[in-house]
Amino acid sequence: MTITFVGHGYVGLVTAAIFADLGNKVWVIGHTAEKVENLKKGIIPIYEPGLEEVVRRNVKAKRLLFTLDYSPAIAESKIVFIAVGTPPLPSGEADLSVVFDVAEKVGKNLDDYTVVVVKSTVPIGTNYRVQELIEKVKPGEAHFDVASVPEFLREGQALSDTLHPDRNVIGTDTVEARDVLLELHKSIDGPKVLTNVRTAEMIKYAANAFLATKISFANAIAQLSEETGADGIKALEAVGLDKRIGRSFLSPGAGYGGSCFPKDVKAIIAIAKSHGYDFKLLKDAEEINKQAMERMVSKAVSILGGSVKGKMITVLGLSFKPDTDDMRDAPSVFVINKLIEKGAKIKTYDPIAMENAKKIMKDITFTKDAYDAVTDSELVIVMTEWNEFKELNLEKVKKLMKSLAILDGRNIYEPQKIKDLGFSYVGVGR
Ligand SMILES: NC(=O)c1ccc[n+]([C@@H]2O[C@H](COP(=O)([O-])OP(=O)(O)OC[C@H]3O[C@@H](n4cnc5c(N)ncnc54)[C@H](O)[C@@H]3O)[C@@H](O)[C@H]2O)c1
Repeated sequence: MTITFVGHGYVGLVTAAIFADLGNKVWVIGHTAEKVENLKKGIIPIYEPGLEEVVRRNVKAKRLLFTLDYSPAIAESKIVFIAVGTPPLPSGEADLSVVFDVAEKVGKNLDDYTVVVVKSTVPIGTNYRVQELIEKVKPGEAHFDVASVPEFLREGQALSDTLHPDRNVIGTDTVEARDVLLELHKSIDGPKVLTNVRTAEMIKYAANAFLATKISFANAIAQLSEETGADGIKALEAVGLDKRIGRSFLSPGAGYGGSCFPKDVKAIIAIAKSHGYDFKLLKDAEEINKQAMERMVSKAVSILGGSVKGKMITVLGLSFKPDTDDMRDAPSVFVINKLIEKGAKIKTYDPIAMENAKKIMKDITFTKDAYDAVTDSELVIVMTEWNEFKELNLEKVKKLMKSLAILDGRNIYEPQKIKDLGFSYVGVGR
């Protein structure tokens, strides 16, 4: 089948590459010449393990084609995926301007029957606005359906998540669109949830809102454990053994971040508000998340004797989670900015995300490795659980630091082991 993706970010490029690998001809429409030229050579604009190899293989096989032009890609395609960003507006609502802009361009280039799929995360009802826009601009003879196929991949594991998702949600209002999408997804694992467009749009927000709430619940229990002397990690592990609850997303830490949870929680609160519903549960989840980040700052101040002014602090890890270079809404940014405000000097190291971090963070020192980062430091704060931090030679770290303190925002170390080495240790919930 010939299909098109508009957008080659974490979602568009991964999904396009996988569908090409499965034997489809896949056009990818970008909007900056430099990135499109690089992609044609197999140079990808994001970090995602294994992705570059799949892109290169399919570019070479001429199944994956990059272009700036909507013609002839759209006319040739049976399915067009819109996979552009939907960042938050100051009101918290999703900014749909790029989705609508792209929808118009797609509409103008339609030919024959096409399924236009919104893959971006969008508020309930957006597909119908896309449908109206396309109706206005499409050539007379073209006919089309809109569909919602939300994406659930996780950055860092995006390739395998795309091939083996927990479920495929296919939201359509016609049998024709449903059957075309089922045909495309026939080699993708996992149950197919067939539903209507509005419900598919809702599933995506509900899933992310639930996961964010689960993390905030874990952070609330962690905070209470710190106050009461309970071991929050042990408690949450035991809670997660209950099959009705499940272990994942119950790890307390320095707060959730990334390009999805913060913005999608804000967006569903805004959607609820516009329908007269005050989604207090999610407002609390947001508030607890902010507290988790603020507690990292107050713990740092307290470890350093009441003030961080003039003190050298090392932050290990910048990306919002390991195995990605994505810095969007990373908790490290909040924590570092607050520490700088209080007069701390920050040295940092991240295996992959430093290039992206440099674009948004000034006044901090980026270093070549973790050992360089800890040199002369009075406190190490772990903000991202990269494997290489778990495997640090702590005897070496001990020799390099000025004073020995670790604030473990992701609970990657065994407290007793760290204390036996002579460090003071503070984690989250323990
Ligand atoms: N990143 C994730 O883990 C993830 C997971 C599930 C769903 N989503 C959702 O998928 C959507 C895309 O997310 P992403 O992380 O891939 O975003 P991204 O920022 O990585 O990619 C967005 C893409 O849109 C392109 N773009 C921007 N303006 C354009 C325009 N005018 N014309 C054509 N292309 C344009 C950009 O060049 C980029 O390739 C969002 O709605 C997001 O919420 C993301």
